[in-house]
Amino acid sequence: MAKTPTSRIDKLLSSMGYGSRNEVARLAKAGRITLDGAPLDDATKRLTVTGDLPTRMRINGARLDPLTGMVILLNKPLGMTCSHKEAGALVYDILPLRWRLRNPAISTIGRLDKQTSGLLLLTDDGDLLHRVISPKRHIRKTYRTTLARPLDGTEKDRFASGQLMLEGEAKPLAPAALEMLSQTEALLTVTEGRYHQVRRMFAAVGNHVETLHRETLGRLDLPEDLPPGQWRLLTTEEIARIFA
Ligand code: URA
Repeated sequence: MAKTPTSRIDKLLSSMGYGSRNEVARLAKAGRITLDGAPLDDATKRLTVTGDLPTRMRINGARLDPLTGMVILLNKPLGMTCSHKEAGALVYDILPLRWRLRNPAISTIGRLDKQTSGLLLLTDDGDLLHRVISPKRHIRKTYRTTLARPLDGTEKDRFASGQLMLEGEAKPLAPAALEMLSQTEALLTVTEGRYHQVRRMFAAVGNHVETLHRETLGRLDLPEDLPPGQWRLLTTEEIARIFA
């Protein structure tokens, strides 16, 4: 039978971004870490790490963060970059500070351009990240876009053809579905994740993307009640919808 894992309290909490081991030790000494209501004053002690720990442990009176397997749904605002290290405003700045210190790190699942808004997922689960971005899975992504010039009506077939080439690339794009909403507004569903794909697709048919917003990933829609810049954790059922 598999053994239940144990971990030193200071090591576990430090890897979850609650501070250095010394800082965690100080929190414990001050009685600020409790398990089932009782203070854990020695942070060097080992603890059985079970899935219900976040419901039983409190740090400074607040529930412990999830141990692993977090999937965060963010309504990405315009002007923020999906990078850990570039200059300027980063999507990670929106999350609680300690989440940026977690190990394994939280990373975006794929990227949206600085000037693209909408549904962005982040996770600390490397396997899940790779499953979502794997080209073999053909996970659908739907973007709402406004265009600089009127659509001429040929774009739908050209995008669906499986023969459209992007500048500088050797392999044609997989078929993509275009739904015209007006002369200069459309929904585009793609199954690949090439660099600046949607902008380059419209450039390939002589147009220019003015605004770009991701609405859907797999069968997961951006919730209407999640304003730009707001995030929440996905439920297990919502995570399954990515792959449905
Ligand atoms: N395609 C783009 O061109 N940009 C994005 O951010 C996403 C898809």
